[in-house]
Amino acid sequence: MDSFEFNKFAGAILFTLLATLGVGILAEELFTPHHPEKPGYEVAVAEGGDAGEAEAEVEEVVELPVLLASADIAGGEKVAKKCVACHSFEDGGANKVGPALYGVVGRDIASVPDFAYSDAMKEHANADGGTWTYDNLFHFIADPKKFVPGTKMAFAGIRKPADLADLMAYLQSLSDSPVPFPEAAAPTQ
Ligand code: HEC
Repeated sequence: MDSFEFNKFAGAILFTLLATLGVGILAEELFTPHHPEKPGYEVAVAEGGDAGEAEAEVEEVVELPVLLASADIAGGEKVAKKCVACHSFEDGGANKVGPALYGVVGRDIASVPDFAYSDAMKEHANADGGTWTYDNLFHFIADPKKFVPGTKMAFAGIRKPADLADLMAYLQSLSDSPVPFPEAAAPTQ
């Protein structure tokens, strides 16, 4: 084999190798589905990484006075549309399926004289201070059956803390002598 023959031979092998390589790359381009750089769905989350966890705990973490500080009566009136089928809110309003709610803030639990409360609610009148404080109302309306197991208030509850806070502002306004919101505790340092 002279050097010319050898070059031809080597050239042929080289060409074959390059061609195979080329087809391989091309095939990969054609048949491999393109994956996004990061697998999964992009979800905008707050910095810190554990936003989901923080949201789940928000009810416990955010203090009631802090929530109430930005509560809004008009928003609360809208939220209260979920209650009007069973409750009246106006001054002198009658009992419906549930007791009249005008002036409920600061009122004793289960104290509307002509309303037939469930035994569970009557028993609850002796617990949690016996008064509809903002804190008690907040927790009752968030999850009635959890706060007063056995209550006959057939309502799933309002989970969103901001909606509950708005509702508190609305209930506060429905009174001849509105009960002030609780003060935020001084920050501990
Ligand atoms: C399906 C009817 C129904 C709906 C809807 C409903 N409630 Fe009630 N609610 C009742 C009944 C019935 C009771 C009495 C519960 C008992 O005796 O166990 C009650 C009791 C209450 C009490 C206790 C009052 C007291 O005198 O001790 C409050 C406060 C209250 N409801 C607020 C609300 C609010 C606020 C909403 C709307 C977010 C709402 N309820 C929605 C039926 C309802």
